[in-house]
Order: sequence, then structure tokens, then C-alpha cells
Amino acid sequence: MPAVFLCRPTVEGAPAPAAAEPVALLQLDAGQPADAASAVYREFRRGRRVVAVASGGATALGSLVTALAAIGVVATRPGHGETLLSDDVALLAGPDVATDGPAAGPFRPLRIALAGCGVVGGGVLQRLLADPRFEVVGVLVRDPGKRRDVVVPKGLVRLDPAALLAREPAVLVEAISDPSTGRALICAALTRGVAVVSASKQALAGDLTTLTALARTSGSPLLYSASVGGGSPLIETVRRARDHGAVVRIEAVLNGTCNFILNRLADGVTFDAALDAARVAGFAEEDPSADLTGLDAAAKLSILAHEALGQGPTVDSIPRDTLAADAVLPAGRVRQIASLDLRAGTADIAFRAVEGDGLFADLPDEWNALRVETADGRVFTTRGRGAGRLPTTEAVWADLNDLLAVWPYQGGCNGHTDTDPLILRL
Ligand SMILES: NC(=O)c1ccc[n+]([C@@H]2O[C@H](COP(=O)([O-])OP(=O)(O)OC[C@H]3O[C@@H](n4cnc5c(N)ncnc54)[C@H](OP(=O)(O)O)[C@@H]3O)[C@@H](O)[C@H]2O)c1
Repeated sequence: MPAVFLCRPTVEGAPAPAAAEPVALLQLDAGQPADAASAVYREFRRGRRVVAVASGGATALGSLVTALAAIGVVATRPGHGETLLSDDVALLAGPDVATDGPAAGPFRPLRIALAGCGVVGGGVLQRLLADPRFEVVGVLVRDPGKRRDVVVPKGLVRLDPAALLAREPAVLVEAISDPSTGRALICAALTRGVAVVSASKQALAGDLTTLTALARTSGSPLLYSASVGGGSPLIETVRRARDHGAVVRIEAVLNGTCNFILNRLADGVTFDAALDAARVAGFAEEDPSADLTGLDAAAKLSILAHEALGQGPTVDSIPRDTLAADAVLPAGRVRQIASLDLRAGTADIAFRAVEGDGLFADLPDEWNALRVETADGRVFTTRGRGAGRLPTTEAVWADLNDLLAVWPYQGGCNGHTDTDPLILRL
């Protein structure tokens, strides 16, 4: 292994970080790149820098870097004499052959009811079916005859939400595109004591305060990381800021489709061609109006405000600019910025020039980004892939693994075999 240094880089003239983030040291088997990437992602979304020693050889290490990039996590491989802490995730080559991890104890698989089998639900179903820690007990869809890119095992399809919950799941994963059905399902699940992992901002944003109160009363966890930012850990970053001190301002790029289109417009592509490209890339839906009118970003901003304050503005009360072929945009590099100023008591979704802004200006494709400021002037930021199957599935998967880690089964283990990271506070 090359000599590398676990120390913070000093850059001439650069301001010192306000406070050091903890560092997670992980030992990974890069021969299982998806699992290894998930282990890294779970630490990354907690705001930890990650230093991982990955076994499996150079090719496997390359596959791990690719798997991380697909979910929006940039990993570097520091060379001889370089520091490990200049980037968020540093990978070091370990032994070619992975050593066996701890054997899983006896466990009962966690019963999962999945609502939705589209872009997000299909990705989650693939992972659930491949993982013996979970048992899928039903999959709710609207059209049983639809051609899907993921095969739903025979006998699991349900067309009625009540029939899905009648399968007595321990966890409902809610990823449907109909907000009223989604919200009713979430309420019904929580009331019955079923834990919920949701990806649906429109189902949640309407009344997150009521839903979280219901979750508290019933003692059933309600997790919703994927509902804002796809695979970029925006909710987690606001929570970290809130835990540090009073949040006074949030600025964010929250809609991957608009960001994708704005990048193409900047390249000189026409609006219609940019929208078509967003559809082909799988970011824009057939009816993209919620993205273009700012409704999607407003729902997400309402959720972020709830995370910061315990309550948020209603989606309808947030003024919004619309992106259209004839929209008049500011000159230079432009982003759809969702802003919440808690001192002024204002919130809006507007197109703003961001030239020279290190966080927002060079945000590629469908990426999202967030800046949160606390009353004492500390600034928290994050970026990542804001939409798409792989990153969004990863956020749902991380929620499921967080649930599994604390699931109250006999023996307290439930076969959970995640590598426990060593956390350093430098
Ligand atoms: N796509 C992303 O990148 C992304 C990122 C973050 C969050 N989300 C959120 O995740 C949720 C799912 O998004 P998606 O992109 O996976 O949507 P999608 O591809 O359109 O899939 C939606 C799924 O919901 C099912 N469905 C819709 N209405 C239903 C109803 N009334 N009863 C039963 N099933 C119903 C559909 O059934 P059929 O298949 O039978 O039509 C389909 O399987 C949405 O709330 C979205 O906002 C998406």
C-alpha cells in the first residue's frame, strides 16, 4: 500500500473549515461494488468524510469508483504521499482477496410492501429481491398488464392499497406517482404500526407535520430521504445544520429536470430539444409541468423548511417562476434556485444568475445542490445526483438499511452484517 497521510490538507490562503466533520474508516469488499458503494453512501449522507480500504484488486476498485459515480458520490484514489482528506471519499487498495466478514446471525427477513414499480419502485424491487434480509410481500401498481423492465414475481401484484397492507408488512416502501393515494397509504400504514420509507415529495409535502406526529404517536418510523434531492443528501444536510444551530437561510437547486434543461440551453440547444433530451435521459416525465412550473421544487423546499423549523410554508404559498420556451432568463449561468430566508420570512422558486458561485455554477446534468446557513454564520453544503433510478434507489436503500440496523427483532441483530465503521474526529 502506498504511503498516504490521514491529515487535513492546508491550502495557502484558504479559510479553515468551521469545524471538522467526522471521518469514517471502512473496510470494503470491492468485488461486491453495489454493496460497497451503499456502505460508503450511508456514511457520506451522514456528512462524514470516508476513507475506505477496499479489497478485490484494481479492477474491482475501478468498479467501485464507477458504482459510486452512478449514485453521485465522487471518490478519489490518493497516490503516494497524498493526504486522504482532501476529498469526501478516498479509496485505498487493500488485499486482492477479501477476508470474510462476521457471519450473519439467525434472522427473520423484514417483510416489505412496495407501492409503485416505476423508475424508483422498480429499482428498489430489484435490490429487495436480491437480498435475503428482505421479503417482498406485495407490489402495488395501477396497471397489471404494463410492460416493465423489472419482473414482478407472480402472485405479488396488488391493485388495491388495502390488499397491500393486508399482507402485514413490517415496512411500506411508498414510491407511487399519485400523491393522494400515496398519502392515504402512508397514513394507513403508520396508523397500523407499519414503518414507512417514502420517495414521494408531493405525498409528504402537503402536511409533513401531521404525518410526523402520526409516526410519533404510533411509534412507527417515517423515513423520506429520497423525496428531496434523489441521491443527494439534502434532508440530512439540513438536519445536520439544524443540530448545529438555528437555520437562517436555505438556497438550493432542487429540480434535476430544470437543471438539465438550463445546462442544455446554456450550450445553445433550443428549449424543445433540451426538454426532449431530458425525457430521453429519463429525468423529465411525459407531463413535465410540475418540474417546469416550480411546483416540484416548491414541494421539496416545503419539506426542507420542515426539517429546519419543524414546520414549512404550504406548497401553494411559495411564489414560483416558470421555465418555458419564451421565459426571460437572467444573463449568464442560470439556475432554478429555491430560497428560504427565515429572517425575512420569505420563500420562492426563481431563476437566478449564479456566475462565480462555486456550489451552483458548474452543476452538471440533473445534479442538485444545497447551501444552508446557521445563525452563527456556519455554512453547510452538499451536491449530488438529484434524480434517476440508481441514485434515488440508493437513498431508499439507505433508509431501509438504517431501519434494519435498529429493528427490534429477537436477539437484536436480524442478520445485519454491515461493516461497523470506525469514526474518527480529527
Ligand atoms: N424518478 C425519480 O428520479 C424520482 C426521484 C425522487 C423521487 N421520486 C418520486 O418517487 C415517486 C415515484 O416516481 P417514479 O419516477 O418511480 O414514477 P413512475 O415511474 O411514473 O412510477 C410510478 C408508479 O406508481 C404506480 N401508481 C401510480 N398511481 C397509482 C395508484 N393510484 N395506485 C397504484 N399504483 C399507482 C404506477 O403504476 P403502473 O406502473 O401500473 O402505472 C407506477 O408503478 C414519485 O412520487 C416521484 O415524485 C422520483
